[in-house]
Amino acid sequence: AKPDPLRIMISGAPASGKGTQCELITKKYGLVHIAAGDLLRAEVAAGSENGKRAKEHMEKGQLVPDEITVMMVKEQLLQSDSLENGWLLDGYPRSLSQATALQEFGLQADLFILLEVPEEILVERVVGRRLDPVTGRIYHLKYSPPETEEIAARLTQRFDDTEEKVKLRLRTHHQNVEAVLSMYKDITIKVNGAAPKEDVFAQIDNALSKLLEQRKVTSGTL
Ligand code: AP5
Repeated sequence: AKPDPLRIMISGAPASGKGTQCELITKKYGLVHIAAGDLLRAEVAAGSENGKRAKEHMEKGQLVPDEITVMMVKEQLLQSDSLENGWLLDGYPRSLSQATALQEFGLQADLFILLEVPEEILVERVVGRRLDPVTGRIYHLKYSPPETEEIAARLTQRFDDTEEKVKLRLRTHHQNVEAVLSMYKDITIKVNGAAPKEDVFAQIDNALSKLLEQRKVTSGTL
C-alpha cells in the first residue's frame, strides 16, 4: 500500500523563518502549504467581513478570533489535495483552543517543527522583509536580496512589518507558545532557526526524510 502522506506543522516566533522554510519544504516534498497568516491576508485583501475583523486584530499583533481562523484552516486541511498529498501547516495552531479544535476534527500531525531564533535577530528580519506580489516569494534586503532590478522594483512590505508591530506580535507569541508546545511534546523537533536558511532546511530535511523512510518500512513499500 502507498504510505500515508506527511502531515507537518511548523511554528516559531514572528519572522523566525516559517514561510521561507515552507517554500523549501514544499518544493522538495510536494506538501500542500497552508499558512494561516496568508489565508487571513487574502481575506483582508478581498475586503470581506471576516477580513475587516481580522485586520483589526492583525494591526494590533493579536490573534484573530478562533471563529474566523479555525474554520478557514479546517476547510483547507480537508481539501482533497491536502488529504492526498499531505499538508504543511504554517502558523497554526497558535493557542490551546486552536490545537484542541484540530484534535476534535480528527486531524493529527506527524511532526511539529519549532524554529528557535533569538529575539534580537527577529526584529531585523521583520524590518528587512519584502514580498514579491508576482511569485509570492519572500525576500530580505540583506539576507535574501532580490535577484534582479525588475523584481526589486516591485517588492512590497506587509502592513504589520514595523518594529513597533513586531514587538506586539512577539508578546502575543510568548503568551501562547508554551501551551501549544505542551500539546505536541512527543512529536516536536527544535531547529536552530538562526543559521543560514539552507542550513536550517538541512536540519528539517533530515527529520522529514527519516520520517518518510519509517513510513515506507511500516507500509511495506521498502
Ligand atoms: P503570520 O503571517 O503567520 O506572521 P508571523 O507568525 O508573525 O510570521 P511571519 O510571516 O512574520 O514570519 P515567518 O516566520 O514566516 O518568517 P519569514 O520566512 O517570512 O501572521 C500574521 C498575523 O496574522 C498574526 O500576527 C495574527 O494576527 C494573524 N494570525 C496568523 N495565524 C493566526 C492564527 N493561527 N490564529 C490567529 N491569528 C493568526 O522570514 C522573515 C524574514 O527573514 C524574511 O525577510 C526572510 O527572507 C528572512 N529570513 C528567513 N530565514 C532566514 C535565515 N535563516 N537567515 C536570514 N534571514 C532569514
